[in-house]
Amino acid sequence: MKKVITYGTFDLLHQGHVNILKRAKEQGDYLIVGVTSENYDEQRGKLNVMQSLFERIENVKKTGLADQIVVEEYMGQKIQDIQKYGVDKFVIGSDWLGKFDYLNEYCEVIYLDRTVGISSTDLRNSKNNILRLGVVGNGRIAKRFVKEARFVSGLEIEYVFGRNENRLSEFCKDYSLVGYDTDYDVFLEKVDAVYIALPHTLHYVFAKEALLKGKHVLCEKPITLSLDEAKELYTIAKENNLIIQEAIKTVYAPCFARLLSMVKSGVIGKIKDVEATFTKLINDKTLREYDLLSGGGSLTELGSYPLCLITKVLGTSPKKVIYTDFKDKETGVDLMNKTTLIYSNAIATSTVGIGVKKEGNCIISGTEGYIYIPAPWWKTEYFEVRFENQSKNKKVYVEFTDDGLRYEIADFLKAVNTKKETYKLTFDESLFISSVIDAYKNNGEFSFEKEYICLE
Ligand code: CTP
Repeated sequence: MKKVITYGTFDLLHQGHVNILKRAKEQGDYLIVGVTSENYDEQRGKLNVMQSLFERIENVKKTGLADQIVVEEYMGQKIQDIQKYGVDKFVIGSDWLGKFDYLNEYCEVIYLDRTVGISSTDLRNSKNNILRLGVVGNGRIAKRFVKEARFVSGLEIEYVFGRNENRLSEFCKDYSLVGYDTDYDVFLEKVDAVYIALPHTLHYVFAKEALLKGKHVLCEKPITLSLDEAKELYTIAKENNLIIQEAIKTVYAPCFARLLSMVKSGVIGKIKDVEATFTKLINDKTLREYDLLSGGGSLTELGSYPLCLITKVLGTSPKKVIYTDFKDKETGVDLMNKTTLIYSNAIATSTVGIGVKKEGNCIISGTEGYIYIPAPWWKTEYFEVRFENQSKNKKVYVEFTDDGLRYEIADFLKAVNTKKETYKLTFDESLFISSVIDAYKNNGEFSFEKEYICLE
């Protein structure tokens, strides 16, 4: 019996898929079809697959052509499958010509002509119109964003908004954009959604304006510097059936999702303590980070990361929040800030600093073990689950590719296309993070008791 194997994502199964499965089957007597898992697709940068693994497998089954279906979960699996199942022929479409020649060592490799004029990408794009996303701001993060957005299909970035024409023109040249605007109204007319990468104090005004003009908003953290402003933005978005999402990249990373599901499934028992640290030394006191009026300081600059992790693990209802900081005498900003959240059955500490350096790791402790995420834990890629009995320890690795912004971009696109807020960072969670930052910066009304200790 001649065994043939072929692989694909098979998203929105189309005639091109059916043709290749038929022709692959004709190459032998028994056809094995490998369908890529969600995790594997994410890792290799295929971020907008619309159907779940289950649906894609069901569709392949329905063709009646597969004698066996396997799930492709990691790079290098093909060699193992070929050996494990005793495969004689590996078949794939001509778009992969040459890429799998290395498999010739294990079986015959056959490239078949691709069916012309159809692909899952085209089908996804025709189902959801391409999202025209405009970039508001032209600083460092905006540049990284444009580069990363190229890995996400289903959206295009053509325009950037800003104030300085020379810099905008350079930005357009460097990143091959169509053009720039210095008039926000004109800019908004050309886009369906905006990514706001402006200094913190400008988030609210620019996000609000965009929402009022019917545009979806992806906004850099912290979404606003006051809880009331954040609430207002979310209300406008909800009333107008628009998406507003806070761009805290950590929560969108594939490994972070793995981490959370392990924590929530009780692998380390009941969670009793969370400690997360993020420091980034900034010495130049002329920078925005040292300007109190521009929302400078450790907590506003870096607090969103540890606070979002704490929120995802322990929720939005601490009894008490204690802020301990020490301030820069000249500028008044917090050089280091320890925010302790006391929940009814657990305690969490966020430590951030722009004037103090510390190991940037995270430890989540439970009644049966703990999870250790080494620095930089906020670019979550690797963690260890540790127990008293060390033979039970586990190590988990899920790649965080390049800058990792592509994950939040893909998630935002999905939210816009489905008109549903992401579960990865809900409005309520985002509002809670705002309330913790606001309670420190200002003195609004909060659901938790607040205490403040200032160190010399
Ligand atoms: N295929 C084909 N003809 C097409 C589309 C796909 O022969 N018009 C083949 C591919 O070469 C591959 C298999 O079908 O061997 C599964 O491809 P997959 O990547 O799932 O489909 P695409 O439509 O190419 O998906 P995408 O647009 O997301 O890359």
